[in-house]
Amino acid sequence: MADRYQDAIEKAKQRFEEILRGQLERVERIKSQSGAVDYTKLDKIVIGICGGDGIGPIITAAARKVLEELLAGDIRAGRIELRDIEGLTIENRAAHGKAIPDDVMDELYKCHVILKGPTTTPRAGDPWPNIESANVAMRKALDLYANVRPVRVPDKGIDWTFFRENTEGSYAVGSQGIHVTDDLAVDFTVTTTQGTERIARLAFEYARRNGKKRVSIVTKANVIKTTDGKFLNICEEIAKEYPEIVTDEWYIDIMTAKLVDEKRRTDFQVFILPNLYGDIITDEAAEFQGGVGTAGSANIGDRYAMFEAIHGSAPRMVAEGRAKYADPCSMLRATVMMLSHIGKQAESDRLARALDYCMFEDKALVITGRDTGATCEQFTEYVMKNL
Ligand code: IPM
Ligand code: MG
Repeated sequence: MADRYQDAIEKAKQRFEEILRGQLERVERIKSQSGAVDYTKLDKIVIGICGGDGIGPIITAAARKVLEELLAGDIRAGRIELRDIEGLTIENRAAHGKAIPDDVMDELYKCHVILKGPTTTPRAGDPWPNIESANVAMRKALDLYANVRPVRVPDKGIDWTFFRENTEGSYAVGSQGIHVTDDLAVDFTVTTTQGTERIARLAFEYARRNGKKRVSIVTKANVIKTTDGKFLNICEEIAKEYPEIVTDEWYIDIMTAKLVDEKRRTDFQVFILPNLYGDIITDEAAEFQGGVGTAGSANIGDRYAMFEAIHGSAPRMVAEGRAKYADPCSMLRATVMMLSHIGKQAESDRLARALDYCMFEDKALVITGRDTGATCEQFTEYVMKNL
């Protein structure tokens, strides 16, 4: 028996060693980081803009237009540059056989923050090579460790902010699993002390600064004992530094149920979750707000930050000729977060208020994703009139 599998196990051990070394190097990199950039102290902020795939270029163009209007003075004065970055398309990525081709990555490194349209993520069996997701690759390359996803439904009392850990968990080496034999495949989940501390601290600091009274830690630590257990323990430790905030612990399955429980869900305010649970539950949460097309997402690191929709490139909408009816609100909500992140709080508030008015109050135009509603362009104009 041992002999029969010896070669396969040796090969897998070697791959496993590479993975461990890679992750330990990452830990050392996190340890050596020197803290967050203060964008307000920069002479010039470069905002990179990538359209992406599918409906991406359409909704990203909408956000660009709004930025040109809101930041006109800063752009004219050379304090802010909107820089289009080409090549983050599935065609170009496939041609290079890379999640993010090197020349595109070089351009991204020259920016401070990035506004990114959704990109196609191939999986086995697609016409594309099965390369890593561009989002995931960018989050790792720029060390964007916090995925911050707000969901608000004012008339239902929902005001949630999800802090999804963004570089570890099942995503850390999600493209490096091992087919040990034809019959056995293994993936890995990663939790590090440093990676967990920084997401937990960011969430608690956010809660403290914004007068939030409750932080909910969501894991599956009863089953995924080692990595989720570590994640939970570290979050609990950090929670002790914030005695004024109530901290509670949930398992992801029951939390998924509680989000549809109208009596309980309004109690929740801030959530901290490992990567995969955060991915799944934020789609569910966004659905209450009007769908994933309405939700934006901030990917925050110390040096870089990237802002995007929470959804994908919607190839079905494109195939059915409905791309022009795509909802720009996800990218516009991402823009709200980006403006706030670079210190343009007044502009961020203006856009947030206009979006709230158009989406929740006035509703003179409605997006349905098809010809029964407004087009992306019409809705963008409507928002801009209400800035
Ligand atoms: C998201 C998306 C991505 C993710 C995909 C496109 C790789 O679903 O940003 O939530 O899983 O993180
Ligand atoms: Mg997702």
